[in-house]
Amino acid sequence: MSSDQHQHPLWWQRGVIYQIYPRSFKDTTDDGVGDLKGVIDQLDYLNDGSAAGEARFAARGSASSLGVDAIWLSPFYPSPMADFGYDVADYCDVDPLFGDLATFDRLVAEAHRRGIRIIIDYVPNHTSDQHSWFIESRSSRQNPRRDWYVWRDPKPDGSPPNNWLSVFGGPAWEWDQVTGQYYLHSFLKEQPDLNWRNPEVKQAMFDVVRFWLERGVDGFRIDVAHYVMKDPQMRDNPPNPDLGQAMHRPMGDYDSQVHLHDKGHPDVHAVFREFRQLLDAYGAENPRMSVGEIHIYDWQQWASYYGQHMDELHMPFNFALLNVPWEARAVREVVDALEAAIPAGAWPNYVLGNHDESRLATRYGRSHARVAAMLLLTLRGTPTLYYGDEIGMADVPIPPGRQQDPWGLRVPGLGRDPGRTPMQWDDSPNAGFSDVEPWLPVAAGYGTRNVAAQAADPTSMLNLYRRLLWYRRHSPALYGGSYRPVDAGDDDCFVYLRVADEERCLVALNFAGDQRCVSVPGEGAGQVVISTHLDREGSESLSGLELRPHEGLIVEL
Ligand code: NOJ
Repeated sequence: MSSDQHQHPLWWQRGVIYQIYPRSFKDTTDDGVGDLKGVIDQLDYLNDGSAAGEARFAARGSASSLGVDAIWLSPFYPSPMADFGYDVADYCDVDPLFGDLATFDRLVAEAHRRGIRIIIDYVPNHTSDQHSWFIESRSSRQNPRRDWYVWRDPKPDGSPPNNWLSVFGGPAWEWDQVTGQYYLHSFLKEQPDLNWRNPEVKQAMFDVVRFWLERGVDGFRIDVAHYVMKDPQMRDNPPNPDLGQAMHRPMGDYDSQVHLHDKGHPDVHAVFREFRQLLDAYGAENPRMSVGEIHIYDWQQWASYYGQHMDELHMPFNFALLNVPWEARAVREVVDALEAAIPAGAWPNYVLGNHDESRLATRYGRSHARVAAMLLLTLRGTPTLYYGDEIGMADVPIPPGRQQDPWGLRVPGLGRDPGRTPMQWDDSPNAGFSDVEPWLPVAAGYGTRNVAAQAADPTSMLNLYRRLLWYRRHSPALYGGSYRPVDAGDDDCFVYLRVADEERCLVALNFAGDQRCVSVPGEGAGQVVISTHLDREGSESLSGLELRPHEGLIVEL
């Protein structure tokens, strides 16, 4: 749906989310791992608070901070770090590696003071095997917490109860010698799945949500949200006839099945309806939000997570652009399909990178990264940026022996370390990330590709992101207007209009490596306000708008 109705969007609709992987952002304790104080220290880089009061012309000036509206923090909870924090041992505390609750409270206060909202990662599908709930659950079949996890008898031949697979390789069942049953783990065996069909589990996990809402968090990113409800009969998954057709990254043996029964059971919707009521109950003064990690590429099914009456998740993450062939036509098809599938009243969003993916600059190539930035920040809906993409960080080759990601260690080639390396702040040792050797290697070219160097270069990638963010902040057409694709006469260019009552913008993106010319029927001239090359402004005719290789333009009409 192209919607002109959202003229007064809420903060999470209007704003831009920036994902921080805390281990890799900024180390202030000299242990080679980033921490929450490091995030506090860099808040001015993200948004120094001056954006809110700026007049529209500020968008054309040079912003000294990035200007994001919210940060999403990957897990910082106590954890044995088998999956780097996605194995939570206590949902209501901070791992000493990252700080403590007082530091977290300070982070919330300091962020709010600058107008930055805090979104935290909520991991409902599984705990760590070191969580006290699981330690109790596995202690005996009679333990009151036995049914908090998914335990099943073996088949008569001793094999696992069904054919479900772990995302990270091998079967999704682990045999427990002591109590003589298997437990389910959709990810590592150190990440046992909670049993959300047990009302006590739901209560306990909703109490976790309350705990953080009361500490002032503004939203939740919900880890593998669709996994929390599985087929109650635990039927085998059927084989996958379309092997190799995956819309997401290839996932090895896991792709050999259609994951019909091990996630996404329709009962999941009741859970998220209740979850939404809980958030709404805290939302009178400050609307709270949820965004679910949902890898579903059938749009109807995907959109069902908004809820039939817009009463479930505020947004399911839209990952469709992560693996699209990077061609104007293919990208437009994805955007148009999404716009067509978005239910009335639902708000779209786009993602071009996160801690599970290869870096944008590597996935699509450096020459495409600027057009990608303009695309992400000018489509209709909430953009999520991944730390470091704003300076064009690329995947870092990880030498043998330095690999950390358990997925990559189990299934060679699937490791996620290359996209999780330390933020490149300046040209000092370890890129200004840490005074000691960081937990993952720093990119070889950090001496020139870093925040300090790019801040000083008026046409850098960082300054492009800043300009785009600041322009978007002040542009009703971009933050709240409708989207209309334009047939502009060149299939290698993606051209669209963004329209609000008081403003119309044209976005023209040349995906090709040579010069192109587009024409927009019925429009006379417009004012170029941003070129991805940051060297072009002024009036241009729209009947023959020249675009240089890999150039994108925002044109005010
Ligand atoms: C999705 C997270 O994004 C990923 O990093 C993690 O390994 C799995 N869920 C398991 O929690």
